[in-house]
Amino acid sequence: MLTHLTTTSPAAVLLARYRSVRAATMRFCAPLTPEDMMVQSCTEASPVKWHLAHTSWFFETFVLAEFVANYQPFHPDFRWLFNSYYKALGEMPEKKLRASFSRPPLEQILAYREHVDARLCKLLEQTPEDELLRRVVLGLEHEQQHLELAATDIKHAFFTNPLHPAYASFNAEEFQEKIAPPLEWLSFSPGYPVRPGVVEIGVTPDPKAIDSFAFDNETPRHNVYIAPFRLASRPVACAEYLAFMEEDGYARPELWLSEGWDTVQANGWQAPLYWRRDTATKSGWSVFTLRGWQPLGELSETPVCHLSYFEADAFARWSGHRLPTEFEWEFVAAQRSVAGNFLDSNHLHPQPGSPTAPTPQQLFGDVWEWTQSPYTGYPGYKPLPGALGEYNGKFMSSQMVLRGGSCVTPASHSRATYRNFFPPATRWQFSGLRLARDGAS
Ligand SMILES: [Fe+2]
Repeated sequence: MLTHLTTTSPAAVLLARYRSVRAATMRFCAPLTPEDMMVQSCTEASPVKWHLAHTSWFFETFVLAEFVANYQPFHPDFRWLFNSYYKALGEMPEKKLRASFSRPPLEQILAYREHVDARLCKLLEQTPEDELLRRVVLGLEHEQQHLELAATDIKHAFFTNPLHPAYASFNAEEFQEKIAPPLEWLSFSPGYPVRPGVVEIGVTPDPKAIDSFAFDNETPRHNVYIAPFRLASRPVACAEYLAFMEEDGYARPELWLSEGWDTVQANGWQAPLYWRRDTATKSGWSVFTLRGWQPLGELSETPVCHLSYFEADAFARWSGHRLPTEFEWEFVAAQRSVAGNFLDSNHLHPQPGSPTAPTPQQLFGDVWEWTQSPYTGYPGYKPLPGALGEYNGKFMSSQMVLRGGSCVTPASHSRATYRNFFPPATRWQFSGLRLARDGAS
């Protein structure tokens, strides 16, 4: 056992965090109608109602069912109904059917959340064992992942709706007179002079430290070779991406990876997701945001987002540079504090950089930054035992790593070692890019 429950015991701290994270999910849902919560508008997305149930299912399945003697499930069908992809636990409904879950009704899903909350909190008020605490921490990180997914899924749902409803109202002052600082190149020579090029990346968790968390895919800490490189001081802005478009970036096959070019042709892409031609605006484009349609001119200094890996890579090639590796990114980010434009700041969209902030800036928050690194296991990687081993490891093929978090990532869910990953054609997340180049001078 870790310790008895005091106001500062790990269980007490975790109990407060549990309540805070679960409340954040419900706060995000406050402006949504029950009908909004039913929409599943693209293959990547799930209905918000499903997210509410599935995150509760995670706690019920991996904590309550395993650590409470004679635990009675809230509903016997929920164990398979709200399983996402854990095949070790049995069959589950196809993902594309989640929008057909008009039953169970939303009230029952909310009652399910309350049922799980009551029992989980009771458990944490006792003297829980370390493994239980670790599972709760994992469940909270999982809940935060799904909160971010709910934000991006509802954005796509509202974009697809012919009425294009806004999740929140627009505040014009947010963007007025904000100009992105000039892009500077910052030089890095990792490991010099002691171990030129050799740096440590990733995490080897302390099994006794409940309050420090890393997913299994961030482990173990290991040596990586990084040649001297330069990294851009901020992410690429919309105005810079528009220049790529105006130089026929989407029509020049020499700029694209073969699979990227095929994807552009197959989908008719001519701009990032959520951009549409709009002759009523000066720039000729409008952009759909969680705060409704905005003229591109209002957002031109903000980091460009909703790009696929292929678009980020093509832009980098057009600019004469490249995407950073995930190791270059982490090497730089590990020297900075985790602060930025996250969900907690409620902008709900990337913000322009600051002319006075230290550089590099906007590493954390605003937009996930595509890296040129494929998503694979680190040397010595071991998935978690049992069904939880399916959380990350089985997705280590055909996906690319993104780093840094976005404007809809909960702030406490971000860290320098965090590895997000998506297939290279994915655009519905707040995904953008930061440029890199070889050589420190
Ligand atoms: Fe999940």
